[in-house]
Amino acid sequence: MVFIFKKHINKNNIKNVRTHFPIFKSQPNLVYLDSAATNQRPQSIVAAQSHFELYENANIHRGVYDLSNKSSQKFEKSRSIIAAFLGSENSETVAFTQGTTAAINIVARSYLEPRLKSGDNIVTTVMEHHANFIPWQMLCKKYGIELRVVPIDQNGDLDMMQLKEFIDHHTQLVAVTHISNTLGTINPIADIIAIAHAKEVPVLIDAAQSISHFDISIEHLDYDFLVFSGHKMFGPFGIGILQVAEKHIQQMLPLHYGGGMIKQVTIENTQFRDFPYNLDAGTPNISGVIGISAAAVFIDALGKKNMRQHLEELTYYALDVLAQIPELTIVGTPKKQAGIISFNAKNIHPHDVASFLNKDGIALRAGMHCTQPLLAQMGLQATARISFSVYNTKEEIDLLALSLRELIKFWS
Ligand SMILES: Cc1ncc(COP(=O)(O)O)c(C=O)c1O
Repeated sequence: MVFIFKKHINKNNIKNVRTHFPIFKSQPNLVYLDSAATNQRPQSIVAAQSHFELYENANIHRGVYDLSNKSSQKFEKSRSIIAAFLGSENSETVAFTQGTTAAINIVARSYLEPRLKSGDNIVTTVMEHHANFIPWQMLCKKYGIELRVVPIDQNGDLDMMQLKEFIDHHTQLVAVTHISNTLGTINPIADIIAIAHAKEVPVLIDAAQSISHFDISIEHLDYDFLVFSGHKMFGPFGIGILQVAEKHIQQMLPLHYGGGMIKQVTIENTQFRDFPYNLDAGTPNISGVIGISAAAVFIDALGKKNMRQHLEELTYYALDVLAQIPELTIVGTPKKQAGIISFNAKNIHPHDVASFLNKDGIALRAGMHCTQPLLAQMGLQATARISFSVYNTKEEIDLLALSLRELIKFWS
């Protein structure tokens, strides 16, 4: 299915958008409000993958026959598509990983670990997903260095003064999320990058929650490392991207050894290929790579600006609707919020909220959202979380509110 949309999404054309997602045809009553966990999949992306597997399947970089050559070309074309999607002409800045978590762990072990020394520090924030927190914590413990964790203010915005103070000439990396997966806070990443670069400190941006609806370009933002997952951008599970600025490429050491990542092997020695190929030991997730590049094409066809506008409208509509239910507390009121809202209902555990709403076909998340340090700072055990994507509607938010009112009546 060819998808050419590039229009403002509104109540007249949202049905058209939804037709690209077969799940809403097979489950017309599903109100899916958990896109921060994973997006639903459009037909075109799954079709791109299955077409490859059914009709073009061959391993890459190995055969000289046509089928294998075509597979290799498609694989490398996918890398160029992702590079262009990230505003770069250099596809060799892009490595394929298993996801955001894997990409962050690669930066921790391949780039950062070999350069750490006593007296160094790593700066991250309290609002990070565990994937962008534990790898740094582990490195700090291993090398006896300091992990500096930027707190949030009472609204759920980063304490930028503290961030500025934490970054010094001993900081080896600043690792920060673009959008909080729990509060929806949009962090001022351009400012953070400028502050860090003024002290010559590299910055890793976790774009898991922003990649589907923010224009992210290495040319403009000048980040050092960017990480995200395919399944957060309508693509497949088990595939993700690590983009590395050209100036760091030489420092990206291989982590796994095997076929595909070597220049030459003798009994005595091995010469490795350069980044990003030195990370591709063994057969990669070829159909996942094709799927993630199809996802980039899908998002470009839809238009990130349209998606962002749609999510903004839904977010502020939902905040208004939820504010009219006095028994609810919205968790976090950041200056800028995108597509994600956490809340709690008075005297009702978030798991009970999610179970009750499930009976009305509403899928939302309850728990700690892999952000335990954040919830601890906020003095919370858990929250209920709704998150939106391109296929959500204001009517679904009205259904959510109706179901929440019933829950509160039932519980009182
Ligand atoms: C902000 C953020 N970072 C990292 C991750 C981890 O992504 P993955 O599980 O795809 O590796 C998530 C997943 O929810 C996330 O929201």
